[in-house]
Amino acid sequence: MAGIELVNVQKSYVVEKRNVQVLSGISLQVPEESITVILGKSGCGKTTLLRLVGELEQPDGGEIRYGAVHKTAFVFQEPRLMPWLNVTDNICFGLKKQALDSLEIQSIIYTVGLEGFERAYPFQLSGGMQQRVSIARALAYQPTFIMMDEPFAALDYFTREQMQRELLRVQKSQGASILFVTHSIDEALLLGHKIVIIEEGLIKAEFDLPKSEKLPNLLDEEFIEWKRNIIQNLNVHI
Ligand SMILES: Nc1ncnc2c1ncn2[C@@H]1O[C@H](COP(=O)(O)OP(=O)(O)O)[C@@H](O)[C@H]1O
Ligand SMILES: [Mg+2]
Repeated sequence: MAGIELVNVQKSYVVEKRNVQVLSGISLQVPEESITVILGKSGCGKTTLLRLVGELEQPDGGEIRYGAVHKTAFVFQEPRLMPWLNVTDNICFGLKKQALDSLEIQSIIYTVGLEGFERAYPFQLSGGMQQRVSIARALAYQPTFIMMDEPFAALDYFTREQMQRELLRVQKSQGASILFVTHSIDEALLLGHKIVIIEEGLIKAEFDLPKSEKLPNLLDEEFIEWKRNIIQNLNVHI
């Protein structure tokens, strides 16, 4: 089996002696070598789902089946850097010695736009820059499967767009599988080969998007039509 398969996955938490059912039965295929986006409102269970797939937590019921052996990386909602390490050392943290040569490290630093900050410490960086270090750290590991939890939420519009396009490029050139969580419809449409909408612990809708060779344009008619479709499914009123 290729990719990852979730079969009737359930998860609840006990909060102040009350049982909170977060995921009520999620069945989902995460195909290989493409970007699957989990889209939903805050609190709908996106992070919980990602943590289950990343085996940071165990489901109460159901099963998660993993295909080929994966080299996995996780980008959290917040940067989680080592405060005592500079940018380069944070990026290389956890890598075997000489896993990457200095040119490769420099190319990753360039990809996330942090050239000139190689020796800076996290406290000297903005929140967005710190998050870019954590994305660079994930890329440096050269994973075949990347889980990303709203990784661009702290970035300004321009940096965010640049990083989204960079991620598309990296995914295409490395053929990685990506499971990407967001609450942004535009981001989901820009990145996703497949978009999965979660609401009240269940999959509300799934879309398979045709992807052309060229990068999508947010103002194309086709794009706007998809957006309309998703907005209707999300029950949001604008
Ligand atoms: N460790 C936990 N203990 C108790 N409740 C949790 C825990 N993690 C998440 N929750 C609850 O699960 C729900 C979904 O959370 P989360 O998966 O973080 O949502 P999202 O990422 O979509 O914003 C929320 O109601 C949240 O309070
Ligand atoms: Mg979350």
